[in-house]
Amino acid sequence: MPDTAWLGLEPDDLPDGLVVADERGLVVCFNAAAARIADRRPEEALGHPIDRVLPLQDLEGHRWWQATDPYGGPAIRRGQPERNLLLPGGREVLVSARYVRTRPTGPVRRLVVSLRGTEARRRSERRHAELIATVAHELRSPLTSVKGFTATLLAKWERFTEDQKRLMLETVDADAARITRLIAELLDISRIDSGRLELRRRPVDVAAAVCRHVEGHLAAGEPAERFARHVTGPLPALWADPDKLDQVLGNLLENAVRHGAGTVTIEVAPAPPGRAVPEGITVTVSDEGPGIPEESMSRVFTRFWRGSRRGGTGLGLYIVKGIVEAHGGSITVGRSAAGGAQFRFTLPVAVPAVLA
Ligand SMILES: Nc1ncnc2c1ncn2[C@@H]1O[C@H](COP(=O)(O)OP(=O)(O)OP(=O)(O)O)[C@@H](O)[C@H]1O
Ligand SMILES: [Mg+2]
Repeated sequence: MPDTAWLGLEPDDLPDGLVVADERGLVVCFNAAAARIADRRPEEALGHPIDRVLPLQDLEGHRWWQATDPYGGPAIRRGQPERNLLLPGGREVLVSARYVRTRPTGPVRRLVVSLRGTEARRRSERRHAELIATVAHELRSPLTSVKGFTATLLAKWERFTEDQKRLMLETVDADAARITRLIAELLDISRIDSGRLELRRRPVDVAAAVCRHVEGHLAAGEPAERFARHVTGPLPALWADPDKLDQVLGNLLENAVRHGAGTVTIEVAPAPPGRAVPEGITVTVSDEGPGIPEESMSRVFTRFWRGSRRGGTGLGLYIVKGIVEAHGGSITVGRSAAGGAQFRFTLPVAVPAVLA
């Protein structure tokens, strides 16, 4: 048997519950975590049959030891995968088992059971439930307005003037657009969270993309003096997903216009600057508004965080960060020289190996 004493570890040092039974099914090890999870002192467990020490049941009420039959089941079985089981009193516990045999298909020499509390999983389930509640809440208010206005118009069409009808339909149109956008954002989030965000990389001209976005804002009625652009050349050729890059620029510029104030400055420069062969491109978006309070900076990229009531859904920056990181880049937030918010992201050039 290999000597493991050099590890300097005792069963009590393990973070998970460890219960070991011998070839007769009698408990020979019951560590401190197992005692805590099963709420039973090691003295009460040692030397007793494991099925009596841990009377586990599955969620349908079947006795687990009888169902799995570690000492009697097929001799090729090597253990049991992790399952959520119940201890007396209805306490939930995650259990997995390993059957250590004398030889590959020989009798079970040791039964090793690991026990884990369900708190960590509970927490992640709670986070999911919160997400669903927030999403439902976000969808409800525009849907209520769509439903309310359409119902009113259908019931009393003749009683409204042309202008009133137009106003209501405009509200319905804007709310429907908000729902569509929210759903698109949620799809992006689920792709980001599950690591399935697909990138279609192509050579992109970042400076031209910035130009297009600024022109979009001017066409929508923003005055020309709200924007300043600085491009420090020459810029390296960048391979990125153009649609996703548009989403990033769109969100950052929209935030600067909506949440910030004064002139919005967009700088595009090689990263890191001053190198003969730049490794990427850095884009900085600064404004002269109130900025992000110091104590909130660590939270701006989390989902649903918004600084004030004027905020949107608070998903924009979470998606921006997800897209930038999917490209292998990074994004930071800080304070601009004028005291407003400053967002800076860097994308690596990512030229495909065949072309490099
Ligand atoms: N340039 C900025 N100046 C001041 N505050 C900002 C700026 N950009 C973002 N914020 C703050 O950060 C919050 C989160 O931004 P984010 O883009 O994630 O969400 P949002 O704009 O509120 O909604 P969405 O982008 O989903 O429509 C905003 O609500 C706002 O309070
Ligand atoms: Mg936003």
